[in-house]
Amino acid sequence: MQNITLTSTRTNTFTHLAVPKTAGNSEADWFESSETDALLKYGSSAKLESATRVPGADVVLLVIGCGDAINYRNYAAAAVRASKGIAHLSIDLSQASAEELLLAAEGCLLGMDTPSKYKKSSSDLLAIELVVDEKLLGTDISESLNLASRIVQARQIINTPANDLWPEKLAEICITASSGLPLEIEVWDEERLAKENCGGILGVGQGSERPPRLIKMTYRGGGKHLGLVGKGITFDTGGLSLKPAESMVGMKYDMAGAATVMAAVLAIAEQKLALDVTAILCVAENMPSGQATRPGDVLTMRNGKTVEVLNTDAEGRLVMADGLSLLTEMNVDHIVDVATLTGAATIALGNRYAGVMGHGEAVSLIRTAAVESDELMWEMPLPAELRPLLDSDLADLTNVKIGNRAGGMLIAGWFLSEFVKPEASWAHLDIAGPANNDGGPFASTPKGASGVAIRTLVQMAKNLSSS
Ligand code: BES
Ligand code: ZN
Ligand code: ZN
Repeated sequence: MQNITLTSTRTNTFTHLAVPKTAGNSEADWFESSETDALLKYGSSAKLESATRVPGADVVLLVIGCGDAINYRNYAAAAVRASKGIAHLSIDLSQASAEELLLAAEGCLLGMDTPSKYKKSSSDLLAIELVVDEKLLGTDISESLNLASRIVQARQIINTPANDLWPEKLAEICITASSGLPLEIEVWDEERLAKENCGGILGVGQGSERPPRLIKMTYRGGGKHLGLVGKGITFDTGGLSLKPAESMVGMKYDMAGAATVMAAVLAIAEQKLALDVTAILCVAENMPSGQATRPGDVLTMRNGKTVEVLNTDAEGRLVMADGLSLLTEMNVDHIVDVATLTGAATIALGNRYAGVMGHGEAVSLIRTAAVESDELMWEMPLPAELRPLLDSDLADLTNVKIGNRAGGMLIAGWFLSEFVKPEASWAHLDIAGPANNDGGPFASTPKGASGVAIRTLVQMAKNLSSS
């Protein structure tokens, strides 16, 4: 369903019309200009994301509860979600500004269930028309639709089970997705990874039959250079430090960071933003086997630092270390890394907020971009007293402090900081909580992979390109 058009008067073959209702607006105020006030006696609710069907003579209203104020992205997403069994949906945007129209266009795609090749789609929607003020009829919504399509694409990849997605396959997907766009893509196989001293990625990937990959996507738009790193563990069993059965469920989502930076760089290239972007996807499958890294093994990372691996389930930081080291060598202006890094992130922040750590300008750039793109991110500290927990007797550092349960997300942040310069502009996003939505759909997030942080990264790139 990509058929989204603009109109200033509802087409009468569109059987349903979504209208927003806020707590502040009286129904009469809102609908004054439309032909539908007579229908409103049926009653409706402003309760956030509620949907009430109100039948009328020539159209069925879908009254979408918007709470205190209309968030147009979420309103459109809720309208689409409420459209089960509906083929043609009009969405009332008669009160929307140009900017709000763009958000609604995005919401139309983001609100849909993520298509899955394993299950027949339950969506019947064939076409959506956005009913806007006449002045907005010429608005170009293609950028909003493109960004939303990239987010949907990332969700689909993230939802793919590990029997259909392994490192090499993810590399192929990135190559295919890049074709036709102003992007360069380079894939390092295990031999190249060895030549390039990527001991973290190799150490994590060596237990699997399906070898690891590093995928580098480069966009050159001129101006500032933004470096992105994504955690791409296509499945995280924990390795020899095997996860218990329940904790292993959902570990196909452990490559969400990689899919996120992929989608962001694709969208940035599509929008031809005026900055350079290097995205590095650190991709491996974390499996136990006779070849696997053992607890106690020492790995040498790309930047030469040695790491004593005391827990093979803290593998994300090991693959990310190589990606961060590479961007550090390239002297990029800002580094942002995205990873489903720690279960501790969900203990600290729940399932809707990403944790933001780091130092330098990147942290505030990310926070600003997150607010602008309406994504939930919360800054977390890197407390000095936690750093010594990673001291090792044998190597430069350990990957975990055995037995420690305090501040797991922050310690992981400290570990990553060893692979960027102290003066670097660097933000680390731990998306372990919000990457996967186990509950029902909300706002513009469906069940399953959320695609969180893509909007924020693209917004940050936009802000950098205009400054
Ligand atoms: N992939 C997990 C983190 C995770 C947990 C993501 C739950 C999403 C949901 C990561 O590789 C991991 O296993 N981390 C360990 C670190 C520990 C061994 C220090 C964890 O969080 O338990
Ligand atoms: Zn793990
Ligand atoms: Zn992991």
